[in-house]
Amino acid sequence: MDAKAAKTEAARAALDHVETGMRLGIGSGSTAEEFVRLLAGRVAEGLRIIGVPTSERTAALCRETGVPLSDLDETPHLDLAIDGADEIDPRLSLIKGGGGALLREKIVAAAADRMIVIADDSKLVDTLGRFPLPVEVNRFGLFATRLAIEEAAGKLGLAGPLTLRMTNGEPFVTDGGHFIVDASFGRIPDTRALSNALFAIPGVVEHGLFLGMADTAIVAGAEGVRTLHAIQ
Ligand code: A5P
Repeated sequence: MDAKAAKTEAARAALDHVETGMRLGIGSGSTAEEFVRLLAGRVAEGLRIIGVPTSERTAALCRETGVPLSDLDETPHLDLAIDGADEIDPRLSLIKGGGGALLREKIVAAAADRMIVIADDSKLVDTLGRFPLPVEVNRFGLFATRLAIEEAAGKLGLAGPLTLRMTNGEPFVTDGGHFIVDASFGRIPDTRALSNALFAIPGVVEHGLFLGMADTAIVAGAEGVRTLHAIQ
């Protein structure tokens, strides 16, 4: 099974967790987009759900495919959030934000009773950090915020390049109007300490460590589709 097929199979298996009447957080990224397409098929067959999208891109795909949408002002409490991830560790802690939607993804996941993460099994790691950690930062004071991130990480023994994410020669701008700094720290043994240290920096809007949010991961690959639960 190639990565694209694996994403589709993980997304398909996640549909088993969707029940009629649910208020659903809908993630961003290529795996979540597979999920939207499959979900739209079920909606066309009569499944009644209301979706809250985690990005403008996902919202556009939902509109295009006929998935009914709401937002967190109208629907502040969700039954389930289904989203992809860039890395998944055995506790189902995640790195997210490769697509730049981490802030809305985290707000939506936090509003949901449960979060299920869907991915191809190349995303499974023993320790988070192989994938550069996206940190969403305010545009104001960018340089100072970068320095502060470097210093805070250094105190935890983490070092590595911090790269301002670019697209078409310009800084990438998130749906919230912020920039993203990708932090290539390598293995992050104490994710909670790094999370706390990053949140202590005023210019940091959000970071891509999703700790204790997902309770289930559906991953697909050579071993077929597997459902994993968080190891405490
Ligand atoms: C979007 O900001 C990310 O958090 C995605 O969920 C993550 O990058 C996974 O994307 P893919 O499903 O495209 O691998």
